[in-house]
Amino acid sequence: MQSAVGSLNPGASAFPVPPGRDCGELQRDMNQRKKGLVIAIDGPSGAGKSTIARMLARRLGYVYIDTGAMYRAIGWKAKQEGVDPSDEAALQQLCSRTDVTIKPDTSVQRVLVNGVEVTGEIRTPEMGMLASAVSRSPAVRAQLLTLQRGLGASGGVVMDGRDIGTVVFPGAEVKFYLDASAEERGRRRWQELKEKGMDVDQAVITEEIRARDLQDSSRDIAPLKRAPDACYLDSSTMTIEDVVASMLSVCAERDPQ
Ligand code: DC
Repeated sequence: MQSAVGSLNPGASAFPVPPGRDCGELQRDMNQRKKGLVIAIDGPSGAGKSTIARMLARRLGYVYIDTGAMYRAIGWKAKQEGVDPSDEAALQQLCSRTDVTIKPDTSVQRVLVNGVEVTGEIRTPEMGMLASAVSRSPAVRAQLLTLQRGLGASGGVVMDGRDIGTVVFPGAEVKFYLDASAEERGRRRWQELKEKGMDVDQAVITEEIRARDLQDSSRDIAPLKRAPDACYLDSSTMTIEDVVASMLSVCAERDPQ
């Protein structure tokens, strides 16, 4: 198990997306990645990214990193402190006094905010919407970008999110865009919450998913979109095992060892 501590550092400047990259740059990236490939999985909420990314990481002996949890952690902290997610100056301040600690694992990734464990608390639909709201902030994105790049720099990671293949690791060796219809994603999310004992309406959950899709894909910075070189998979009618098998065969082509 790898463990990493990420501090939200106000001086970070590795934003926005690097301009066009040449072969030399890509080669240098690959030389740094001693532990294996960087595998980026992007897509809308509820497409099955986290389950699939975790399984893929386990099969490859890689570390799974859930970047959505980092935005959820900031959303949680904003709620705790009564910070308005549309107040950029307040969010910038919030970041400067917030330590998000990610403890990657092959099973459950633990998340701590200033030492307080929030792993379970951030997994609600409310926290999903709050995460989406704070993720529009340039300050929040810049800080989390630094954390994400640090965690993936040596490779051997499967990282999921919205902008991993486009912004965080545009030079990732393997990129997937995992999609599914809004109805199917709503049904899955509803089932998952029901199994956790939450009393939720499927239609409401599907509407929230659509609202989040719109918010995540229409924002100015690092919007959800498919990288031109990402392999597109629609999981609406595929089993989890089929998706993982397809991904494994793409990974094997890129890294034949
Ligand atoms: O994957 P998730 O549902 O836990 O993500 C919560 C929100 O965080 C999502 O709606 C948008 C934001 N997010 C992001 O902007 N960029 C990422 N790489 C991951 C998540």
